[in-house]
Amino acid sequence: MTKVLILGAGGRIAKHVIDQLLEEKDVELTLFLRNASRIGKTDSSVVIDGDVLDHLKLKGAMSGQDIVYANLAGEVDKMAKVIVDVMREAGVKRLIFITSLGIYDEVPGAFGKWNKSMISQYLGPYGKAAEIIENSGLDYTIIRPAWLTDYDEIDYETTQKGEDFKGTEVSRKSVAELIVKLIQHPESAIKRSLGVNKPDTDADKPAFY
Ligand SMILES: NC(=O)c1ccc[n+]([C@@H]2O[C@H](COP(=O)([O-])OP(=O)(O)OC[C@H]3O[C@@H](n4cnc5c(N)ncnc54)[C@H](OP(=O)(O)O)[C@@H]3O)[C@@H](O)[C@H]2O)c1
Repeated sequence: MTKVLILGAGGRIAKHVIDQLLEEKDVELTLFLRNASRIGKTDSSVVIDGDVLDHLKLKGAMSGQDIVYANLAGEVDKMAKVIVDVMREAGVKRLIFITSLGIYDEVPGAFGKWNKSMISQYLGPYGKAAEIIENSGLDYTIIRPAWLTDYDEIDYETTQKGEDFKGTEVSRKSVAELIVKLIQHPESAIKRSLGVNKPDTDADKPAFY
């Protein structure tokens, strides 16, 4: 049985991941989120109402977990610090953490410039979060999605840290599929930072924008 702690379990990508993992008999989920009553009851998951910045609450949820998947937004640098500290204290090693395209200035061309002008205020905290995680000694995978859509499709490719980012957009369902694969094969993509995009979407900005 693999025990998976999902932080920010009410988030939109997380919801797709949870839907898929509830089908898996050898995965036990702990869903950690603020205002937990909104998640609805599941028979097979533990649900914990909590804020990730609450060190003690997070520590209580961390005990005995095999994998932590963080689907957070906002002060992600502060959250990354708390998560890394609590994982170390609890002896939990495997972390999957969603950040954003652009944190390494890896998005080329006109789209790179446009992306920076649109989300520069978020890139600092996401970049800092990635740095904290990369220096943590944990078995991490950082995910850097392109601009997210809610299209009902699974179609994606990945790029590695050090490579130019490809494409402009990707569906939340595709990012969720990648995360489910990482949870099913936790030995893969360790100490990697993966860009995720829909193939053949290179443009000056996302087509839907
Ligand atoms: N939009 C884009 O095009 C785009 C592109 C690349 C990356 N991203 C990033 O990808 C990530 C995942 O996307 P998404 O659509 O799944 O995001 P989302 O729906 O906004 O989910 C983020 C979750 O983080 C939770 N959260 C924030 N602070 C928290 C705290 N202190 N404790 C517990 N939970 C907390 C929020 O909970 P509450 O509901 O309680 O606030 C929310 O459910 C986000 O960080 C997003 O910014 C977005």
